[in-house]
Amino acid sequence: MKRPLIASCLCAAAMTAFLAGAALAQDASKTVMAACTKCHNAQRVCTALGKKDQAAWDATVTRMMGKGAQVSEKDKPAVVAYLAGLKPGSKPVCE
Ligand code: HEC
Repeated sequence: MKRPLIASCLCAAAMTAFLAGAALAQDASKTVMAACTKCHNAQRVCTALGKKDQAAWDATVTRMMGKGAQVSEKDKPAVVAYLAGLKPGSKPVCE
């Protein structure tokens, strides 16, 4: 009798984690499309997808923030992870 209850609890926890992850990725996507298209278009970011690893994106985002990109220190890790995880040609960065 206990099993279905445990299974549904695990499922609910997994769903919550999945939804939280999806929401974070969506926030990061919005931040990129708002903050990284001010000086150059998204094509500039698109061109670099798949060519930079996490560390390289971290360096790029840091450099762009130094130029004035509106990314908060709090949002930065999610933005870096989002960019590092995007495959070449991914929307909405590449249209
Ligand atoms: C304040 C203006 C400005 C903003 C905002 C900005 N950039 Fe840039 N970006 C530049 C300039 C200028 C260059 C070309 C010179 C250079 O590479 O430093 C550039 C070049 C790039 C390049 C190509 C060079 C490389 O290192 O691969 C990428 C990728 C890039 N930007 C990504 C981003 C991302 C991601 C964001 C948002 C976090 C962003 N930019 C926001 C000014 C900006």
